[in-house]
Amino acid sequence: MKALDGIKILDFTHVQSGPTCTQLLAWFGADVIKVERPGVGDATRKQLVDVPGADSLYFTMLNHNKRSIELNPKTPKGKEILTRLVKECDVLVENFAPGALDRMGFSWERIQEINPRMIMASVKGFGPGKYEDCKVYENVAQCAGGSASTTGFLDGPPLVTGAQIGDSGTGLHLALGIVTALFQRERSGRGQKVLAPMQDGVLNLCRVKLRDQQRLEKGPLTEYSQYGEGIPFGEATPRAGNDSGGGQPGRILKCKGWETDPNAYTYFITQAAVWEKVCDVIGKPEWKEDPEFATPKARLPKLNLIFDTIEQWTMTKTKFEVMDICNPLDIPVGPILSMKEIAEDEGLRATGTIVEVEHPERGAYLTVGCPIKFSDCDVEVTRSPLLGEHTSEILRDVLGYSDDEIHEIAGSGAIGELPKAAE
Ligand code: COA
Repeated sequence: MKALDGIKILDFTHVQSGPTCTQLLAWFGADVIKVERPGVGDATRKQLVDVPGADSLYFTMLNHNKRSIELNPKTPKGKEILTRLVKECDVLVENFAPGALDRMGFSWERIQEINPRMIMASVKGFGPGKYEDCKVYENVAQCAGGSASTTGFLDGPPLVTGAQIGDSGTGLHLALGIVTALFQRERSGRGQKVLAPMQDGVLNLCRVKLRDQQRLEKGPLTEYSQYGEGIPFGEATPRAGNDSGGGQPGRILKCKGWETDPNAYTYFITQAAVWEKVCDVIGKPEWKEDPEFATPKARLPKLNLIFDTIEQWTMTKTKFEVMDICNPLDIPVGPILSMKEIAEDEGLRATGTIVEVEHPERGAYLTVGCPIKFSDCDVEVTRSPLLGEHTSEILRDVLGYSDDEIHEIAGSGAIGELPKAAE
């Protein structure tokens, strides 16, 4: 048994944010029916193509364990089919541009009329307000949510981060909203509307930076390197480079091989509780008693000297040796892992977080499996569907149409060309 067995998701999502959400729900056991425009499908199928003629990794890696139906709800027959799907399903998830679902004739009011138990979940760029009609992509959300202004170095421009906190991050937020609404429905019997705006999701992940904004009004942020360097603070939370956010000084330091390997670095935190062990490891035992170095406050103006000295030591070790030496001493360090190293990581493969999946058009490819592990809900990652692969199956098994009716529907243009399985 899977956690969401029996839950049917009408998946109107595309690109990254929405598909991330519905992929999680599929992994948790929901039957995810992805509705795609006939003959076209999710635009990512054909974006960043690496194997000509095959669905791209962009698409396959975000749409595992789903079924695909080609359906145009803008045709009369398509409207009829979608109405029946809304009746049958528990959750409708969408991340269209604002208003697109209404323009299809499926407003929230109409959906409630068809199925009062329906949960309608949406990703939008912004919540209600002056930007609510904007179309939004990942980096726009990172900028509007406070991530870009607080990422990067003090003397450089704002930076976007590689982690897709706007798209995938908001998908995660929405998934939590959906299971919460399903849980409430158990008691209320009613569906509800769930909205996850990308700006809000990014801001939620940048919570500590709003914390710092308010602390800044009371005085300088002493844990930021710029404080120790005597650089005055402005009015807003500054970019903190690679400082660690928790108040314990931390930096990224070079390791053995940095001259040729762009990822031969380690993160190193001089946590107060293990300062004496740090001094021993880097060969500076005298710093333990020296009042110039012995307390966290005394160290603040000397962080550049301290980290330069630690780096002299880390440069004599590989990032993994640094980890092996520091870990048993509880000195927090982290090797900077490249995507190549992660792809080859045996530990991540053993836990199913990196998995190899077979695909009929492209052969085997690597993907990130479910990052959440359950003791009583096995997750098996299966390949993404081909466009319209399950159109007839869904019309027949979920909605009860006969084969003759399916042929008739195909003739109406609502589902594009008759899907292979029904031919
Ligand atoms: N059959 C027929 N038409 C369909 C269809 C289907 N199965 N599925 C979608 N369409 C139509 C929509 O109805 C819409 O038509 P309309 O504008 O006439 O109403 C059209 O396709 C385009 O949809 P839209 O969502 O506007 O796509 P876009 O490519 O112009 O914009 C985004 C893409 C991502 C910017 C936009 O969808 C958006 O802002 N989404 C919300 C925020 C978000 O999730 N952003 C991150 C994405 S990772």
